[in-house]
Amino acid sequence: MATDSQQSFTLSDLTCEYLVNPLGIDTVQPRLAWRMQSDQRGKRQVAYRILAASEAGLLESGETDIWDSGWIEGSQSTQIACEGKALTSRANVYWRVVVRDETGLEVASGPAFFSIGLLETSDWNTDWIGLNPEAIARDKEASPSDWTTCSSPGYFRKNITASARPKRAILYASGRGLLRLRINRTEVTEDRFLPEWTDYRKRIHYRTFDVTSLLQEGENVLAAILGDGWFSGYVGWQETRGQYGLTNSFICQLELEMDDGTVTTVSTDSSWRCNTGPILFSDFMMGETCDNRRQVEGWDQPQFDEQDWLPVLEVDQPDVPLVAQQSQPVRVIKELEPVSIRQTGEDTWLCDLGQNIAGWMRIRVDEPAGKSIVLRHGERLKADGSLFTENLRRARATDTYICDGQGPATWEPSFTFHGFQYFEISGLSKAPSSGDLTACVVQSATPQSGSFSCSHEGVNRLWLNGLWSQIDNFLSVPTDCPQRDERLGWMGDAQVFIRTAAFNMDVAAFFTKWMVDVEDAQTENGIFPDTAPRLPEDGNFIGLDGLGGSPGWADAGVIIPWTIWKVYGDRRIIERHWNAMTAWLDYIERTNPDGLRINELANNYGDWLSIPSDTTFRTHSPLKNLLATAFWADDASKMAEMARELGREEEAVRFEQTFTRVRDAFQEAYVRPDGSLEVDTQTAYLLALAMDLLPAELRAKAVGHLVDNIRSLDKHLSTGFIGIRFLNPILTDYGHADLAYELLLKDDYPSWLYPVRHGATTIWERWNAWTEEDGFLDAHMNSFNHYSLGSIGEWLYSHVAGINYKPNEPGFQTFILKPHPHPSLQWAEGEYTSPYGRIRSHWRYVEDTLLEWSVEIPANSSADVCFPWGTAELITESGQPLKDDAEGKVTEQADGGLTVHLPSGHYTFRIPCEPDHPDKNHEPHISHLLD
Ligand code: BGC
Repeated sequence: MATDSQQSFTLSDLTCEYLVNPLGIDTVQPRLAWRMQSDQRGKRQVAYRILAASEAGLLESGETDIWDSGWIEGSQSTQIACEGKALTSRANVYWRVVVRDETGLEVASGPAFFSIGLLETSDWNTDWIGLNPEAIARDKEASPSDWTTCSSPGYFRKNITASARPKRAILYASGRGLLRLRINRTEVTEDRFLPEWTDYRKRIHYRTFDVTSLLQEGENVLAAILGDGWFSGYVGWQETRGQYGLTNSFICQLELEMDDGTVTTVSTDSSWRCNTGPILFSDFMMGETCDNRRQVEGWDQPQFDEQDWLPVLEVDQPDVPLVAQQSQPVRVIKELEPVSIRQTGEDTWLCDLGQNIAGWMRIRVDEPAGKSIVLRHGERLKADGSLFTENLRRARATDTYICDGQGPATWEPSFTFHGFQYFEISGLSKAPSSGDLTACVVQSATPQSGSFSCSHEGVNRLWLNGLWSQIDNFLSVPTDCPQRDERLGWMGDAQVFIRTAAFNMDVAAFFTKWMVDVEDAQTENGIFPDTAPRLPEDGNFIGLDGLGGSPGWADAGVIIPWTIWKVYGDRRIIERHWNAMTAWLDYIERTNPDGLRINELANNYGDWLSIPSDTTFRTHSPLKNLLATAFWADDASKMAEMARELGREEEAVRFEQTFTRVRDAFQEAYVRPDGSLEVDTQTAYLLALAMDLLPAELRAKAVGHLVDNIRSLDKHLSTGFIGIRFLNPILTDYGHADLAYELLLKDDYPSWLYPVRHGATTIWERWNAWTEEDGFLDAHMNSFNHYSLGSIGEWLYSHVAGINYKPNEPGFQTFILKPHPHPSLQWAEGEYTSPYGRIRSHWRYVEDTLLEWSVEIPANSSADVCFPWGTAELITESGQPLKDDAEGKVTEQADGGLTVHLPSGHYTFRIPCEPDHPDKNHEPHISHLLD
């Protein structure tokens, strides 16, 4: 094997099920991945060997008692199923990979780790426990206030005596409610809101922690605080709490392994003690109140006198499976300081974070005992400069800290979060100083994988606003918004944004988790929901059809797995949900025998929030029927593709036939001989083109009608959530990049840059959330943090920078680089860390007549490099004419451009511009994005 000095490549980013060294997973053949790095061109893996052992020492000495894969020829370095010895509960696996490159050089990675959780019900030896109601009754008597309208979090403790420091201590925990766990006063994890949101009637997550370093010989204490969260707090727009139940409960199982191999288990049972504590109540929507005068020193430490504490409530154990959480946990991923603080009252200050976030404030205060410090949160200010909170609807979003008078104290809430850029803090006797007010941004900690920048500051902010709306809304599930009483996993929003999301961040594990919620929410009839996880009340009371099944929303049940497969090369997600997806297609077919999807359209939101602002639901219209039919056809075509991938030939044929039948019905009903549609909206044309529903000879004509429509609106967009994703990609693919760039750069209403011009730091829910003429629109439904209209991010990466997967070779081992430079930008740059590593595409006009394009293709991958124009004679790479480049094979593209297939490496091309506008000479061609 090579020593460091000889190495021409290194290995990094070892993951298991997309996660770094995950603990307690329950996939027994988890998928491993790694990345190769090299400065050399054409570096590739020709074979790999995986070594796995049950102890770190065994792996080091080469004793692979779990798996030695032997040398496996091939270049694949993602989605490799771990084989070898069958893994059972509590298995520890230390692994590494050795890779051989094309020169025969072999390099070994560093070690990585994963462990298996508790697979069998019989592995759990715990009782579910909750807060003794007497504790609350006792409090009520002492202070008969109304704060118990939300339940008081419970505080729990259990003394543990360890005969020696354990060799290994593993804590398994789950709950109905939210947990904070401590051992000897130290937090067990920085993760928040655990266990995360699932339909608790179907499955409950558990988590696994290695707490070896927290335990000591002798006395220890395991402590927990249990709050409401999704299980029992206010969720969604409902007026009641307790969607899944009102009694919070939890389990812990702490397994202490001693040096001699003996294992002692400490579990939740009737010997635990409980009490209420300083947090009087806590709720996602309402906020949190903490009376620090009630803080009892030492409760989470050993040697505490627990005389006053009560026996716990024993609660029935749930009869649903406990499953490991296999996605990045919710964490504080960033901290911000206010950019401005303004005194607005005697003891009140109004602060601006300069950024709309999801999270909470951590405050440092020093006030007398009994003083209430109140924090109110909002996304915008009213014209008079005061906090705008009307759009929060019933979310009170107020945190209160009651001081204990014991000197300076730092406090932050435990079980709530708010969507806000501004906050008001009152109750302070002096102005806050620097460091007193810190915003904690909370998110499912999906690693960032992409970035985009260009010469236009407004566009950069637009891209960043999309990223921020993703950060603020990817919280256990993809939510619509983080501020008002909603925060639900809306399917339509998720499918519209998923491609942008997967450029911005590595969302494979996140959506793998959420697809389970989606399938859990499917009805017996095969109907996919509109939101997942399903809420027991399901929105019936506001007139929504609770079952779901709305076109463009429920179809996410097919679009999400298909996209994860395309981007990450993940076949398991389509295998796992195959039956559910088929049941959905069967349902549509059963209810719509004539090939048009016009029946059972459920809430039928249509092109939600298009212009003129359409917020009707449960109504029918020709556009809604067209939209529904288009999504059916698209579902069928995706199903056919996935069936082929899975080797389900018969089903592939069946779904192809469905596609053809629905497309024929679509043409019959909506397409006129001149290529115009019965429904003349931008979205109608976009869906027909993007979903391949037009006869080939009418496509260019339909594009003409689309362009006419845009021109008739003085070159403005008019689509809602559903159409917007396709607008610029379709225009660009069909030879109208000029118009796409013009739409991008418009900043009058309605446009992407209008909110940016008016100070948006996230994507607004509506084009007209706020306008110069009308101010705030309809406070009832007006979020300033909804990502759907931010789906333009996808086009910035895939068309402006030009990075995308190859439609027939999912997973980015080979991919496409095809930018569409346009003189309205001096330069643009996209970066995306694919499953194989960092891809970069950066173009700039060196002068009016010369474009420079630098690209980076990660090791062990290759790309179709598509030049926007030029010939092999005129284009140079690192000073050499392209035609002399022996490494790549130059081919002519159908649209007259050039394509070179290049292996990994850094390349810089110089491309002389044609005298005419660059994009004018292109014939229309279909994008790879919209296959
Ligand atoms: C949500 C959306 C969702 C929509 C359904 C709204 O209340 O915030 O984002 O997709 O309802 O039309």
